[in-house]
Amino acid sequence: MNFKIKTNDSNICIKTIRETKDLLEEIKVLDPKVALVDKSISENYPFIFNEFKNLDIDIFVITDPETEKNLETLEKGYYFLQKNNVQRTDFILAIGGGATTDFAGFLASTFKRGTKLCLMPTTLLGQVDACIGGKTAINFGNIKNLVGSFYNPSEIIICTEFLNTLGEQEYLTGISEIIKHALITSDDEISFVLENIENIKMRDQIVLEEIISRSISIKHNVVNEDFTEKGRRKFLNFGHTFGHGIESSNLKKPMLHGHAVAIGMMMALKYSSELNFIEASNYEMVSNLIKRLGYDFSEVSLNSNAIYASMKSDKKNTEKDSISLILLKNVGEPFIYNENDGSKLLEFLERFIKDFE
Ligand SMILES: NC(=O)c1ccc[n+]([C@@H]2O[C@H](COP(=O)([O-])OP(=O)(O)OC[C@H]3O[C@@H](n4cnc5c(N)ncnc54)[C@H](O)[C@@H]3O)[C@@H](O)[C@H]2O)c1
Repeated sequence: MNFKIKTNDSNICIKTIRETKDLLEEIKVLDPKVALVDKSISENYPFIFNEFKNLDIDIFVITDPETEKNLETLEKGYYFLQKNNVQRTDFILAIGGGATTDFAGFLASTFKRGTKLCLMPTTLLGQVDACIGGKTAINFGNIKNLVGSFYNPSEIIICTEFLNTLGEQEYLTGISEIIKHALITSDDEISFVLENIENIKMRDQIVLEEIISRSISIKHNVVNEDFTEKGRRKFLNFGHTFGHGIESSNLKKPMLHGHAVAIGMMMALKYSSELNFIEASNYEMVSNLIKRLGYDFSEVSLNSNAIYASMKSDKKNTEKDSISLILLKNVGEPFIYNENDGSKLLEFLERFIKDFE
């Protein structure tokens, strides 16, 4: 499936491909000068890696993508591009999950003030979320994504076969973003997820191709209206304010982001229904869906005070002494709710956690 998405200043060509063997043709046509490759891809798909050597594409391997999303690796990346005499018109190809594509995006956006970029995301989260919207970043001083830029790739190539080698829980972490996109969009979108749940679990290539394309279009449409996140783009944070709180109460043993978002979406729906914005059945529908999918929350620790403290200090809060939440009035109707009554939210968290455990 090929389609183009139009951004404020350019077009991005998106290709979805089912089998990795067909990627080589795409890479030949793209003719990148260099590639940044996640080590798990070079190990699981050596035939792609070996072909790079034949095509005279120099490779920069990223061994531990989230850890190497830093200034030190960035410097190595600049030396690598300089050594290869990369010009602004040459393609840099990035193959890997969201950490690799975020890193490569920042590298490309700053090298010679912007070098052509093709992203080939290989995790589900990378395919439905991180590759869309132009956010690039590295971590700095223990803060995730502190240094970054807005920079779009010219091409995105999505190959669903890559997902076969993803671990079960890594795969589910991407499903959370698909559910989020559906919930903020329409009944039709969430019905599509519910109707295809078994095929999604089985990683059926045809259903995956469809659902990934839908999710990309949803995120792109939201971002396109609000590239720098002054308005509608904030709706993409549905489940994330609670989710970030959950993640920061699990710092000793970090949890997967999408798992925190899954619980965060349940919290946001339950809170929306307790405030009489949405029918309680929507909360039941989503928590049943999450249960059926098989998320492993066994090692997650939920601490209401820690979650609340983190939500209070969230940089996305816009009003003094209030917490900005994205809630739903209905499926497809997200809105910003500024909670001024901290004790009410804290009491809700305590009750939710008691029921959840
Ligand atoms: N730019 C954005 O808008 C945006 C949005 C969401 C997340 N992100 C960023 O994305 C990152 C998380 O992305 P992620 O979940 O893809 O994590 P990741 O890139 O760290 O990849 C997760 C793990 O999967 C491995 N992997 C990658 N592809 C694989 C494959 N096909 N088979 C087997 N293993 C594979 C990686 O080596 C890694 O160990 C974070 O750094 C986050 O900040 C960015």
